[in-house]
Amino acid sequence: MTDVIIRRVEQGDLQALTDIYNHYVRETAITLDTVARDAAASQIWLDSFAATGRYQCFVAAKAGAVIGWASSHRYNPRAGYDATVMSSIYLAPHATGQGLGRRLYQTLFDALAGEDIHRMFGGITLPNAASVALHRAFGFEPAGIYPEVGRKFGRFWDVGTYLRCGGNPP
Ligand SMILES: CC(C)(COP(=O)(O)OP(=O)(O)OC[C@H]1O[C@@H](n2cnc3c(N)ncnc32)[C@H](O)[C@@H]1OP(=O)(O)O)[C@@H](O)C(=O)NCCC(=O)NCCS
Repeated sequence: MTDVIIRRVEQGDLQALTDIYNHYVRETAITLDTVARDAAASQIWLDSFAATGRYQCFVAAKAGAVIGWASSHRYNPRAGYDATVMSSIYLAPHATGQGLGRRLYQTLFDALAGEDIHRMFGGITLPNAASVALHRAFGFEPAGIYPEVGRKFGRFWDVGTYLRCGGNPP
């Protein structure tokens, strides 16, 4: 995957990113969304990112095709949670297991390093060995498992919570 570049997200990436996400919506419980994301919802998602600040997004692209992204999001709308962000990462199925998750998260966390972030939060529907390994590799520590809080495909799913010190650890 040396021919893959990592760069900031652009408007022209939106359809490819939506297609990747909707694959996981339709086929897996990795996301507990149960309805495919439409164009309007995708645009709102894209508009939440900026080149500075707590909420940023980077994509991986190969030969002009976008094959994944890593992003940071608001954790909770209440102002007291301002210094906590959620991170998110999705690769196209054919692009997993080749080090791209590491490259995307490294770029995202480097970009966030100077921001006023105290904790990063990752929520992982279990089991997901690749996601757990990636988050542990980037310093996320297990903060508990919420048993059967998710329901999709006619069954309940445990969600693991993971926390990492942010841009300005104590
Ligand atoms: C989770 C995901 C982003 C990880 O990215 P990736 O490019 O596949 O992972 P990498 O190749 O960068 O590997 C990162 C680490 O995970 C480990 N890993 C990767 N796939 C693994 C697997 N299937 N089982 C166990 N460990 C795995 C690697 O060994 C590596 O650990 P190390 O650096 O300590 O050796 C990617 O697999 C993906 O997009 N999966 C589907 C969507 C998803 O699960 N998103 C996360 C939602 S919480």
